Amino acid sequence: MSKGKLIGVGVGPGDPELLTIKAGKILSDVPVICAPRSAPEKPSIALAIVQSTLNNRKDNYKTIEPLFPMIEDKTSLKEHWDQAAELVALHLEKGLDVAFVTLGDPSIFSTFSYLQKRILKKEYDVEMVPGITSFTGCASAAGIPLVEKDEILVIVPKVDHRLKSILDDGDTFVIMKTSRHGDLLEKTIEADARNKDIISVQNCTMKSEEVVQGFVKNKKYLSTTLVKFSRD
Ligand SMILES: C[S@@+](CC[C@H](N)C(=O)[O-])C[C@H]1O[C@@H](n2cnc3c(N)ncnc32)[C@H](O)[C@@H]1O
Repeated sequence: MSKGKLIGVGVGPGDPELLTIKAGKILSDVPVICAPRSAPEKPSIALAIVQSTLNNRKDNYKTIEPLFPMIEDKTSLKEHWDQAAELVALHLEKGLDVAFVTLGDPSIFSTFSYLQKRILKKEYDVEMVPGITSFTGCASAAGIPLVEKDEILVIVPKVDHRLKSILDDGDTFVIMKTSRHGDLLEKTIEADARNKDIISVQNCTMKSEEVVQGFVKNKKYLSTTLVKFSRD
């Protein structure tokens, strides 16, 4: 019997209409859907995005929802990733393909990467289906081009001392995971004397989308700040 494969499916930033045709086809057909949960009581955002596609299915597909907690303890994190890989491998071994749904694109700060490494190590096949990233979704919500001509785009997932040292080298900065960043983000950006546009976008492409000029104080989990320095 041939073994199943793991498919990391990017589901885009929130609007179900931003699911690609390819992602939609896979999710309409694959026998097992795997959706990450950050806590047992918190529903998976990626699963919610694809729910309308799954509702059209007439067959008995299976959904598994392993826990990928947002904690700092590396030992505990690795235990959770190992457990998720074991659960997925059980289905692959039976010849069933598993589609792992992930917010945005599977290659951008996605829990999929932890699973991918473990599943490859177990010698199963893995595929990736790209999705629309949250930061291009945020740029569309803000109605701005992220970069033009020879401008350099920098993606920042964590604000620490490195941000100050790279500010001079970039034109547009996408600051992701801003709910985790404190005053250091604002202080570092404001200290740069260049003219700049700062736009924060929360829950982009969702019904609850908010676009705010500047930084936001009450940051939601899905919160991104775009900083565009002017060259003039
Ligand atoms: C773990 S990363 C996932 C990134 C995703 N794989 C992608 O391709 O965009 C989560 C971060 O992405 C950003 N994000 C994801 N979806 C978003 C949305 N709908 N609106 C604003 N920011 C979003 C936020 O900065 C959030 O903290």
